[in-house]
Amino acid sequence: MFIDTHCHIDDQKLIDKDAVIKSLVRSNVTVAINMGCNVSSSVSGKDLSERFEQIYFGAGFHPSDIDDFDDKSIDTLIDLSKHKKCVAIGEIGLDYHWDGFDKDSQINGFIKQLELAKTLKLTVSVHCRDATEDMIKILKQNKNLLGYSGVMHCFSGSVETAKELLKLGFYISFAGTLTFKNARSLIDVAKIVPLEYCLTETDSPYLSPHPYRGSLNEPKNVPLVTARLAEIKEQNIEIVASQIMQNAKRLFTKL
Ligand code: NI
Repeated sequence: MFIDTHCHIDDQKLIDKDAVIKSLVRSNVTVAINMGCNVSSSVSGKDLSERFEQIYFGAGFHPSDIDDFDDKSIDTLIDLSKHKKCVAIGEIGLDYHWDGFDKDSQINGFIKQLELAKTLKLTVSVHCRDATEDMIKILKQNKNLLGYSGVMHCFSGSVETAKELLKLGFYISFAGTLTFKNARSLIDVAKIVPLEYCLTETDSPYLSPHPYRGSLNEPKNVPLVTARLAEIKEQNIEIVASQIMQNAKRLFTKL
C-alpha cells in the first residue's frame, strides 16, 4: 500500500478526476493528500475528499499566491481545518524563484500560517524554492510553532539542509526528482535521512518520475518514487512502503 503525501489532483491539467482515482487504486495507492495553494484549491481539495475515500487534503496558501492571503481567507482556512479529512496546513512556505515576489509578505504569510497550524493542532506541508537560508532561519526562530512538526515537501536541498530540518523534527519528502539520472546529491540526502523520517509524494501534475519524465504526473506514479527510495536504502519495497505509511500516520494524525 502506497501513499502520495503531496499532490494537486484539483489542478485543471488533471481533467478526469474519476480516471485519476481509478488509476491510483490500480497502482495500490490507498491515500493521496491534495494540498491547497489558495482558498479555491483548498476548497476543491475538500470537495474531492468528500467524493473519493482515498483523498485527504491540506488547506493553505502557497507563497506564490500569498498576495490573496487576507483575514477572510484565514477564516476559510480555519473552517476547512475542522473537516475530518483536513490533515495539514499546506502548502505554505517561501519561493524566491520567480521575479517580482514580495519577500516580506511571503515571510509574514508563512509565519501566520505556522501560527495557525499550531492553534489548529495540525502539521504543515512546506514548500521551499531558492530560499533555504531564510527558511531555516525562520523555522529555527519559530521552533515554538512546530509542535505538530512538518514536512519539507519535494525536497531538493543539500545534506546539510536536511540535517538542519531533521534537528527541527521535520520529515523529508522525496518526489519524482529522486528517480532522475542526475539526482546524485538527492541520493546522498536519501541515504542519511532515517527511514522513519522519509515520506514520498508526486507533487502531481508536475515532476513525473522516470520513465515518465516530461509527461503529466499523477498519484499513481508514487510507487516509482518509493521503489527508488527502497533501492537507495537497500531495503525491500514492501518494508519501505509500510514504514512510509506509518510515518505519514504519525505526522498527519487524522489519516
Ligand atoms: Ni505542491
